[in-house]
Amino acid sequence: MPSTLLDSERTTEERVATPRTVLMCRPEHFTVSYRINPWMQPQLPTDTALAVRQWQTLHDTYVGLGFDVHLIDPVDGLPDMVYAANGGFVLDNVAYGARFWHPERQPEGPAYMDWFRANGFDVREPREVNEGEGDFLLVGDVILAGTGFRSASDSHAEAGEVFGREVVTLRLVDPRFYHLDTAVAVLDSDGGPASVAYLPAAFDEASRRILETRFPDAVLVSDTDATVLGLNSFSDGRNVVIASRATGFEKSLRERGYTPIGVDLSELLLGGGGVKCCTLELRR
Ligand code: ARG
Repeated sequence: MPSTLLDSERTTEERVATPRTVLMCRPEHFTVSYRINPWMQPQLPTDTALAVRQWQTLHDTYVGLGFDVHLIDPVDGLPDMVYAANGGFVLDNVAYGARFWHPERQPEGPAYMDWFRANGFDVREPREVNEGEGDFLLVGDVILAGTGFRSASDSHAEAGEVFGREVVTLRLVDPRFYHLDTAVAVLDSDGGPASVAYLPAAFDEASRRILETRFPDAVLVSDTDATVLGLNSFSDGRNVVIASRATGFEKSLRERGYTPIGVDLSELLLGGGGVKCCTLELRR
């Protein structure tokens, strides 16, 4: 009887895929020319053609899952633009624009807002520093919001005003996990007690307590899986696209009835990003 099962005990048959609408940016200008997170090492070579091929596999995986994939034109001189998640936060046809902390990425904010405007979204220009879906994740009716490295906590209040939703602030403490989407994965958008996976050590104690209270049946991942950016994944409620190297996380997902799909984005990992970073969900 499905109804008597715990959320965390659902089988594959009971997991329902809802194809998503997403925005992506082909990494035609990808490289690592500056260092704004500990993953980035500008002295190491990058292979842009390989980055494009790996990204294409992610893109084609989404198309294969029936997703509606939109593309924004990459801009020369903005090598991090491939990380579309940072371009804004979109909900109820409203696009809350990004305002980047680092000067190197600041021109991306207006570039993404132009795209949102041209594609019929109601754009809200941000007053506060925030890096879009990198630090804002919708789970059920609630917006989980990260701070500590990039998005200012004042942006959490601003997002609350823009969307009229509850915003829950979570403080990140490990510089390797500088955006919320590197430390939390939303598996099921229903927002139930098992609807997320996370790395407890990425958060301060108060935030860990909040996560434990809201998501008592969450998947807790190992440091090993988190340090290949395994949590930086994208779920449609049944299929979870993850870093292929996150083998422990893959196993946990299977045990809970999800279908993990591994992709290798090793080149984009050199910039400190993975699957989710390359994916901005568009919610009309
Ligand atoms: N190099 C980029 C930065 O440091 C990577 C962004 C990754 N994006 C994400 N949503 N976590 O800003």
